[in-house]
Amino acid sequence: MPAVKQTPLPTFCQTVEVGDELLLVETAVPMDLKFILDRAKQWNQELGFIPAAGIETLIKEGRCLIACVNGDPAGYILTSGGFRTPLVVRHNTVEESLWSRGIGKALVKCVLHWSRWTKRSHLLIRTRQDIARQRAINENLGGIVLGHDPHVGVRGKLVDIWRVDREPVLSANAE
Ligand SMILES: CC(C)(COP(=O)(O)OP(=O)(O)OC[C@H]1O[C@@H](n2cnc3c(N)ncnc32)[C@H](O)[C@@H]1OP(=O)(O)O)[C@@H](O)C(=O)NCCC(=O)NCCS
Repeated sequence: MPAVKQTPLPTFCQTVEVGDELLLVETAVPMDLKFILDRAKQWNQELGFIPAAGIETLIKEGRCLIACVNGDPAGYILTSGGFRTPLVVRHNTVEESLWSRGIGKALVKCVLHWSRWTKRSHLLIRTRQDIARQRAINENLGGIVLGHDPHVGVRGKLVDIWRVDREPVLSANAE
């Protein structure tokens, strides 16, 4: 079957106030690869494994947003799909020293903004059932669990598929 030529995805660049921090969130570039691969390895059990080459391809396609605080990387959010299937958040990570300041939620909200190109009203977030912080973010953004992935468990833990609708979150400007 001939390859389907896809137009480049829109880039993203936005500053977001998160508490006292000013967060710069933008499309990751190949220079960010090392930070992202290091964190993907660090959180492999929580996130589920994607081979380094796969992550690199997703970055080159413009599917990863990286957040910086004071010029230093603070986290990233990695997606796949979005053309024939809904956009899926595969990884969401924040540096542990910066947890609970709203950065993880800000990253999901940025992806919701960015995902307008998918022409869908929602995105999906894969979340291991026992990752309470990500579950709290999904719930806070009005997400609902559609079910769990019957084929994939991460270290014996089930992975839920959450649906988060774009419009209610962005129009209500949920904190
Ligand atoms: C999950 C992760 C991205 C969250 O990042 P964060 O910057 O701490 O997230 P936020 O501060 O935006 O939100 C954390 C939420 O968890 C809640 N929370 C904090 N501690 C909690 C706890 N012990 N139990 C339950 N919820 C908790 C907070 O109240 C907040 O919810 P709210 O938005 O309703 O207030 C971060 O913990 C991380 O990188 N974890 C490792 C990788 C991972 O597991 N990623 C998730 C799978 S995709």
